[in-house]
Order: sequence, then C-alpha cells, then structure tokens
Amino acid sequence: MLAIVVLFLGSAGLCAQTPEDLNQGKKLYQGHCSPCHGQTGTGGRGPNLAQPRLKHGSSEEAIADVIKNGIAGTEMPGAWQLSEREVNLVAAFVRSLGRVEKVDLPGDAGAGRRTFEGSGCGQCHIVNGEGAAMGPELTEIGVRRNAEYLREAMVRPGAAVPEGYLYVEITTVAGRRVSGQRVNEDSFTIQIQDASGRYHSFRKAEIKDLRKLAGRSSMPSYQGKLSEAELGNLIAYLASLRGEP
Ligand code: HEC
Ligand code: HEC
Repeated sequence: MLAIVVLFLGSAGLCAQTPEDLNQGKKLYQGHCSPCHGQTGTGGRGPNLAQPRLKHGSSEEAIADVIKNGIAGTEMPGAWQLSEREVNLVAAFVRSLGRVEKVDLPGDAGAGRRTFEGSGCGQCHIVNGEGAAMGPELTEIGVRRNAEYLREAMVRPGAAVPEGYLYVEITTVAGRRVSGQRVNEDSFTIQIQDASGRYHSFRKAEIKDLRKLAGRSSMPSYQGKLSEAELGNLIAYLASLRGEP
C-alpha cells in the first residue's frame, strides 16, 4: 500500500516551491542529511551546502541527481531510501539554503564598511580582492548567509564554523603547546596558523597529542567590543556584499 502511494507522489516531478514543500524538504534533510552536512547546511563531514554555487551544480535538477545517485568514490551516499518526490523536496530545500534573499536591514551599510575597515576584519578576510585570507572570503557573504547567521558569526565565532576551518591544539612530545587553525594536514605532517597569523609545521612523529576543537575559532568575538549600532551596521554591510561590483 505504502509503495503505491509513494509511486503516485513520485510522478509529481520537480518544482517543489510552496512553504509547505520546503518544510517537508527541511524535515527530510534533517533526518537524512544533517548528520553530515550540518543542521543549517553549513557543512561538517560533508561540504557546506549553504552557498550559491555548488561544485556539482546548483540547479535543482543537478542537486536532485547528486542526492539520488550519490557521488561515486566519496562518502556521499545515494538516497535509495527516498522516493523521487522526496528527493525533489530535499533538492528544493538544499537549493533554498544557497539563496539568501536580499532584505532591507535597519543598519547603515556605509557606516558598517567603515567599522569593518576600522576593526581589523581585513587582517583575516578578503573582500573584493583586498585583505588577507586567514578566514573565509567575504566578497559574496551576503548571498550565502542571512543576517541572523552574520550576527552569530561576529558574536560567537565558534558557533557555526564553515567547512574547512578547524581549530586544533597540538602538544609536542617535547611539551610545546600550540593552537590555531589547521591549514593543511597529510599522513605525516600538519600545518597550523596561530591567532597572530604565524605558521607552524609539525611532523606527526613529534606530536604527543592532537586535539581537534570543534566550536573554537581563531576569530575573536566582537561581543562587547562593538556597540549594538556598530554590529547592526556591520551586518547591513556584510549583507550587501553579494559579489556584484
Ligand atoms: C555519510 C555522510 C553524508 C550523508 C548522509 C549525506 N552526504 Fe551529501 N555529501 C557528503 C560528502 C562527503 C560529500 C562530498 C563528496 C565529494 O567529495 O565531492 C557530499 C556532497 C553532497 C552534495 C554536492 C555538494 C557540492 O558542492 O557539489 C550535495 C548537493 C549533497 N551532498 C547533498 C546531500 C543531501 C541532500 C543529503 C541527504 C539526503 C546528503 N547529502 C547526505 C556526505 C554525506
Ligand atoms: C584573527 C582573524 C580574524 C579576524 C580579525 C576576524 N575574523 Fe571573521 N573569521 C575568521 C575565521 C578563521 C573564520 C572561520 C571560522 C569561524 O567561522 O569561526 C571567520 C568567520 C567569519 C564569518 C563567517 C563566514 C562564513 O562563511 O560563514 C564572518 C561573517 C566573519 N568572520 C566576519 C568578520 C568581521 C565582520 C570581522 C571584523 C569585525 C572579522 N570577521 C574579524 C577569522 C577572523
């Protein structure tokens, strides 16, 4: 009986767009995908899906194909347990993660830009080719993240660390302790960058303890360092960065 219902719904095809559809897609996502791609899609064991352009294609069809068939030779499994309609619902939800609508925010983006420049954000972030690359590039951040996320990123930087950014603490056999962001790691060595921007390289053989600290970040929290008005302006500025000149 159930199989018949599923088959019938399966013929509904693409274009799941109502809020109710998105809600169903979200529930399916949380059940099947969030263990690897994170509750909010920002990644974990699997890549960040909350971005406008995905490696394997950003159309709903391309995403549905990846979900249905998986990616051979990787940890991305095919969702054989989902019906065609369910696959399309999840695909529509994933697509929505990467598309943050432009909204009018109360802050002043021009003033936010000056706060950005005056607060040293450019020491770790690139915007339109300027700045340094210790943190993620922010040129298109307004397309990828909503205002709530942006606030969280500045107030509690460890709360949602994007894919690829891992904070580690290393204790060497000789008793030296260094922590920072992992830049590179292979079977024999690891390179990290500490909060002051300095690089350290270790052979694994000289490491006694290597701790991966989820929820830690080399980005300082700006809670209390910036006023509520400055934060609001910064959020408006970041939201305005949409990769358009
Ligand atoms: C066991 C972990 C795991 C689960 C469960 C999982 N994924 Fe993935 N997913 C991955 C990994 C790992 C990759 C990256 C594969 C690669 O190396 O390209 C990936 C890749 C993807 C991509 C392509 C991303 C890109 O940048 O092109 C999409 C889309 C995706 N997953 C969606 C989903 C959805 C939707 C679900 C739930 C139905 C899901 N995944 C379940 C691990 C997982
Ligand atoms: C010492 C380096 C450093 C400084 C200074 C810094 N950041 Fe960050 N930032 C990072 C790192 C590393 C990450 C990624 C890890 C994380 O999310 O905590 C990050 C993440 C972010 C994110 C989330 C990006 C994403 O793709 O999810 C935003 C937004 C952000 N920073 C904005 C700012 C703003 C605005 C300032 C200045 C007020 C600032 N940062 C100052 C290092 C820094």
